[in-house]
Amino acid sequence: MTVPIPQDHHMSDPVAPDSNVSADHQASVTPLVSPEVGPIGLTGRPIPTFTAPAPLANHGPAYVIAMTNQKGGVGKTTTTINLGAALAEAGRKVLMVDMDPQGSLSIGLGVAPSVLEGRRTVYDMLMDSSGTPASEVIVKTSVAGLDLLPANIQLSAAELRLAGEVAREFALDRAFESVRPLYDYILIDCQPSLGLLTVNALTASDGVIIPMECEFFALRGVEMLRETIGKVKERLNNRLTIDGVLPTMVDVRTLHTRETIEAVHDMFGDEVFHTIISRTVKFPETTKAGVSIVEHAPTSTGAVAYRNLAWELVSRLELKGAVAK
Ligand SMILES: Nc1ncnc2c1ncn2[C@@H]1O[C@H](COP(=O)(O)OP(=O)(O)O)[C@@H](O)[C@H]1O
Ligand SMILES: [Mg+2]
Repeated sequence: MTVPIPQDHHMSDPVAPDSNVSADHQASVTPLVSPEVGPIGLTGRPIPTFTAPAPLANHGPAYVIAMTNQKGGVGKTTTTINLGAALAEAGRKVLMVDMDPQGSLSIGLGVAPSVLEGRRTVYDMLMDSSGTPASEVIVKTSVAGLDLLPANIQLSAAELRLAGEVAREFALDRAFESVRPLYDYILIDCQPSLGLLTVNALTASDGVIIPMECEFFALRGVEMLRETIGKVKERLNNRLTIDGVLPTMVDVRTLHTRETIEAVHDMFGDEVFHTIISRTVKFPETTKAGVSIVEHAPTSTGAVAYRNLAWELVSRLELKGAVAK
């Protein structure tokens, strides 16, 4: 199965033109078409077509990805849920990990704080003294092959308690030992900070995906994040790489968005995914419903985009030899 990449404004929600944008600017967001290489995407490169990855004969060991950006509201949790659902749809076994004390990933998957009362969570898994194995924390979601390590506000205490421990940056990495062989992908939803919980996520990961809202003021923050990733790689985890930068909440009608995506491409080069995620009202709707958009509205722009992201990611990782074909 092949689908076109959601790069152009035909794929975005049918909304009225932005009154602040001149006709010229609106015309300028239409993808250019080069006769030799086909349409040029918003990131200035020819748009490749990705196909659904081939089924896997065997599962595991997992490739671990941290969804990181110290800015809140950029689509980390939405990306974890929907990339996870799209990878599961492609036959991959996926474990999602809530490393945000706000518990948005857990809530977004229908695991409300009340459901977690009296249950083990990521907090217990990280604390040496209780030594809870990850297998005792796992919750199955409504999607086959898509599991969750849930968290709630108690996780905020882990940051403080871990601070005094030996090898405090490796608590999550240690906890993953028993589950790595069982999954193809582990996706960690990070909190919006570069504190110890995020450093634990980066230390336990093979790669990082940086979801970023395309606003100029976001560029500086992402530069800081890149420095942190570099430090973790140097000091704690030399296998860490940036798997991709994902433009989210893209509004292709504005020149500002287009210019920002170009600046992001200048900064990160081919690390920027070809797939971009448009701004659509469907995401807040599905968050309330406690399911992924991939299940809730499988043919919507958002679901198509996240499915495409999953296919692009798998093809990138297969090309590098980072995951088995
Ligand atoms: N592409 C999108 N278009 C519109 N709303 C979005 C999109 N992605 C996420 N949202 C909404 O924006 C809010 C913040 O997204 P979220 O994934 O929770 O960000 P983060 O985890 O980085 O804080 C949520 O209400 C979510 O439903
Ligand atoms: Mg979040």
